[in-house]
Amino acid sequence: MGALPARGVAAERVLGEVRELRGLDRPTHGGRLFAYVYDPGVAGLDELAAAAYAESAHVNGLDPTAFPSLLTMENALVGAAARVLGGGPGTSAPEVVGSVTSGGTESLILAVKAARDARPEIATPRIVVPASAHAAFAKAAHYLRVKIDSVPIDPETLRPAVADVAAAIGPETVLVVCSAPSYAHGVIDPVTQIAEVAAAAGVRCHVDACFGGWTLPYLRRLGEPVPAFDFAVPGVTSISVDLHKYAYAPKGVSVLLHRDPALRAPQYFAYADWPGYTMINPVISSTRSGGPIAAAYATLRHLGDDGYLELTRRTRDAARVLADAVRGVDGLRLITEPESTVVCFTSTDSGPDLFVLVDELAARGWHTQPQLTYAGLPRSVHLTVTAAVAPRAAEFAADLAEAVAAAGVAGPVTLPPELLALAGALSPEALTAELVASLAAGLGLGTVGGPDSGAGGGLPERMAPVNTLLDAAPPALRERLLVEFVSLLQRPSY
Ligand SMILES: Cc1ncc(COP(=O)(O)O)c(C=O)c1O
Repeated sequence: MGALPARGVAAERVLGEVRELRGLDRPTHGGRLFAYVYDPGVAGLDELAAAAYAESAHVNGLDPTAFPSLLTMENALVGAAARVLGGGPGTSAPEVVGSVTSGGTESLILAVKAARDARPEIATPRIVVPASAHAAFAKAAHYLRVKIDSVPIDPETLRPAVADVAAAIGPETVLVVCSAPSYAHGVIDPVTQIAEVAAAAGVRCHVDACFGGWTLPYLRRLGEPVPAFDFAVPGVTSISVDLHKYAYAPKGVSVLLHRDPALRAPQYFAYADWPGYTMINPVISSTRSGGPIAAAYATLRHLGDDGYLELTRRTRDAARVLADAVRGVDGLRLITEPESTVVCFTSTDSGPDLFVLVDELAARGWHTQPQLTYAGLPRSVHLTVTAAVAPRAAEFAADLAEAVAAAGVAGPVTLPPELLALAGALSPEALTAELVASLAAGLGLGTVGGPDSGAGGGLPERMAPVNTLLDAAPPALRERLLVEFVSLLQRPSY
């Protein structure tokens, strides 16, 4: 269906089309989707956020003097984030400043840009990044032509050794990174010690708290043993926290904080050497909708500090129930004891094929996220737990046990040995369009809008064969294959 009909379509009908399309998606609400979405399960919050969004959707953040409403709301969001993360008046970081960005990736790209541009004398800037850090740092390095010095993580603790971080810092290092917590496993890096070695070397230290920065302080207030990770730690120069994750704002809002204005200064881009308006951008976008900012502002003010404390309590309790469910099933084991709001498990030697299990869980209405084998870590299943999971958590154990039994009966995915051998040996450069097309067809990947496009937009019902093939491939080939597969899906419809 094309988006530009010869004659305009009535509003009601268009809305009906959007709703019908939305019916193809995984459920964003109801606590059964353990990735991509963050649902507090608070009645009326969506409506409030949508109304605030609509109020400011056409306002342009490009010029804060023309639209002071956005400046006011942005400053309020930055102040709230600073306070949650140990900065602001009366703290050891009273001068914290920041910007609202479109998401975690943009916040991380800008943290790297600020660090790079603060050291213009370094010809080949480098950043020290634990292997567990989010892929967005690799994206930042790629976009900004900065080199990455990757620090391995211990397969047991899932954290980097501080000595390895220290050893990776060199004269060209402009930034050291740590996670609080990491996305894949939800573990908190030794921030105090990493920030100390960074400071000793005179290097900035960014704490990526995009995922859990809004929950860790509340978990601490609930009595959980959360180590220091915020501006209370000397040497931490910047922190990112996504409001569209555990602050439960609609998508499109993250905050990047710097300990003081001088650290933020190189983040800005200004340009006056053209005949139009002088451009001063704190973030990557120039024109920015006020919608996400207003929606986040409304969400924070409506939920309030007490609301977040209660939502974090529900989330923690739900994570405990899910972790108990995993412990209670033969053939599965937790990769690590949950430290934050992630439950991550793998299978034992006698356990089920995890990719088949993921499909079996999906068939029972639980949408989990498979994680591929990586650098000595086994394949695993990731659950991002949010407050909306709490009322459903008790139902998970029985379905998990049933799904494990069904996966046992189905047996592991068996791909033709020559295909697996190919995946293990092929170099990304050797991948031809024909090979990709035949692989995609063999795995049931169609094209959106194409003749073989199903109701799910060209995706097979069962993803286990696709995941098994990707799992057999080294990371560089995984990247290439996925680029090719996704580009097959991204075709215009007329
Ligand atoms: C720790 C961490 N950093 C960064 C990001 C990137 O955030 P976004 O997807 O909003 O760009 C994520 C997303 O899950 C994350 O978990």
